[in-house]
Amino acid sequence: MSTVLELKNISKIYDDIKALDDVNLKIEKGEWVAIMGPSGSGKSTMMNIIGCLDKPSIGEVLLDGNDISKESSTSLTQIRREKIGLIFQQFHLVNYLNAVENVMLAQYYHSMPDQKEAQAALERVGLGARSKHLPSQLSGGEQQRVCIARALINSPEIILADEPTGNLDEANEKLVIDIFRQLHKEGKTLIVVTHAPEVGDYAQRIVKLEHGKIVSDNINPKFNNDENIKGDKYDLLGLNKDEDKEEVPLEKVENNESKEEKEEE
Ligand SMILES: Nc1ncnc2c1ncn2[C@@H]1O[C@H](COP(=O)(O)OP(=O)(O)OP(=O)(O)O)[C@@H](O)[C@H]1O
Ligand SMILES: [Mg+2]
Repeated sequence: MSTVLELKNISKIYDDIKALDDVNLKIEKGEWVAIMGPSGSGKSTMMNIIGCLDKPSIGEVLLDGNDISKESSTSLTQIRREKIGLIFQQFHLVNYLNAVENVMLAQYYHSMPDQKEAQAALERVGLGARSKHLPSQLSGGEQQRVCIARALINSPEIILADEPTGNLDEANEKLVIDIFRQLHKEGKTLIVVTHAPEVGDYAQRIVKLEHGKIVSDNINPKFNNDENIKGDKYDLLGLNKDEDKEEVPLEKVENNESKEEKEEE
């Protein structure tokens, strides 16, 4: 295994508050880590530093072994576009762009927009038929799946999500978790901040923060990525581009499941 991310003695100080207080953390390639802890414990501060959106006051952030803690904002932006896919609780979609254009925006900042590729990314999260819809015409769960397509489009090494299911109902929370489980199976490194124990329970490792400090860091005994995943039926990273294999969008999978079962009988 190789270490993709290491925080070394990280502190983030705002006036009189230590939002992070001497945090040390190592994350290996392909790990799925949940960051948990009460409100104000420093989770988002940590995510922002890992996601190159902010810098620590003290300490080093090693991404693939390179210390990025002293990089300029411009080069941090560049690093983020290359290596990190971000997913937020508030979806941060551009209101006047439709779904496929929102995904293309991420390509634009990274390389060249490619509508076909963006459309394929939406198909992989089951939204092929909604690509021309504006965010206001999509449900919360669908908007979050557009965000996931956008986060995956540049094939980032690390997927960082801050309360990705915070605005979703149970059914959509499950859909997002299934996508995460599939991504983890495909070898992506996932770092997911969540309040929700039912979301944390899917991770391989659970790191708990309190008052800016890591108070526990354990392998999750409930982790089980073997049972069936709905997302198995499609190919999130487009790894299995098999000409014979028809890509099955999630919405079709859902609608056809009962039909398939009947046909089998
Ligand atoms: N820009 C800022 N200026 C001053 N204080 C800040 C700033 N950002 C965060 N803080 C403080 O740092 C602490 C940690 O905040 P953070 O947002 O990381 O918490 P969190 O664990 O993500 O909480 P929540 O679960 O509510 O999202 C809090 O006390 C917060 O008030
Ligand atoms: Mg937060």
